[in-house]
Amino acid sequence: KSLLPYHTFGAKVNAKYFTTAKSSHELAEIISENNNNNEFMIIGGGSNVLFTKDYEGLIIKNEIKGFEIIDEDDSTVTLKIGAGENWHNIVMKTVEKGWQGIENLALIPGTVGASPIQNIGAYGVEVKDVIQEVEVLDYSDFTLKTYSAKKCQFGYRNSIFKNELKGKISVISITIKLNKDWSFNTSYGAINDVLSKKPDLEVTPLRVANVIIGIRNSKLPDPKEIGNCGSFFKNPVLANTIADSILKEYPNAPHYPVGDDFTKIPAGWLIETTGWKGKSKGNVGTYPKQALVLVNNGGATGEEAWDLAMTIQQDVYNKFSIKIEPEVNIV
Ligand code: EPU
Repeated sequence: KSLLPYHTFGAKVNAKYFTTAKSSHELAEIISENNNNNEFMIIGGGSNVLFTKDYEGLIIKNEIKGFEIIDEDDSTVTLKIGAGENWHNIVMKTVEKGWQGIENLALIPGTVGASPIQNIGAYGVEVKDVIQEVEVLDYSDFTLKTYSAKKCQFGYRNSIFKNELKGKISVISITIKLNKDWSFNTSYGAINDVLSKKPDLEVTPLRVANVIIGIRNSKLPDPKEIGNCGSFFKNPVLANTIADSILKEYPNAPHYPVGDDFTKIPAGWLIETTGWKGKSKGNVGTYPKQALVLVNNGGATGEEAWDLAMTIQQDVYNKFSIKIEPEVNIV
């Protein structure tokens, strides 16, 4: 089965087996019946995965739907949302109701089920900020288990689901709490720049989401038009001493404090400074407006993308002695 329609990079790869699951029950059945035979992998929107070769096992597309209000009072609403829902559609549904909390995460590709796994984030907000619980199917006994936000061990693009629970569970639903009393995170400068152009217009969740959509469209490629898997690398979190030595040489390098002891330097800037912005090798390149995104110029294989990624990683290392790590799942 061709995986072309099921991932956003647009590599021509096949899976030996492919199926979909529309409920946790169906998913449990598929996995329990398959377990001893084939390796398997659950996919959502396929927006954070790079297939470097054909997949010799079973791909299961999570299509578990659901959008349910499970609690509500004057100032908050708590929603349980199925893992197979499209993330951006859910964002738009909530902002249209006037609920605040995930408007900064508009237009992030992929599904709801993928959101807690790597703790998706953008423009000063991470999904962990609203998550109450994550419900998972546990492959050890095929029961549903609930992880409180605390037990999810969320970090920057990280969670327990990428570490000790990797390959042992799949996400069935998430429960998030949103606000009816608004307080927006506009710490990312470009948001305020846009909002302040019309100071008399009320700031609503929908308006902030639309600002974010504008910002994203201005610098990130639409996977429907240009194959890509979002940020290819994580932004490295460096000990202050290391960051300081870079800032000494490049005083204008963008950087953000992480707690008291660490500093994040954008991988996009490192890649650009290494000379790779907008450059290609074969059919893969970095996006001219955002060097952190690897793009398929047409007909690229996943192997080619991986090859370029490794070249970039090496070049960044040679220049800065910093090893940038992939953010996407390499299969
Ligand atoms: N920069 C460059 N050159 C580049 C790209 C970026 O100099 O080619 C500089 C920018 O000028 C800016 C800084 O790096 O000063 C940060 O750039 P940007 O705001 O575009 O964000 P990012 O750090 O590159 C992260 C997330 C994105 C998220 C944005 C906005 C990661 C790995 N990426 O990117 O998330 O949308 O912040 O909050 O943390 C994703 O994870 O797939 C993703 C797109």
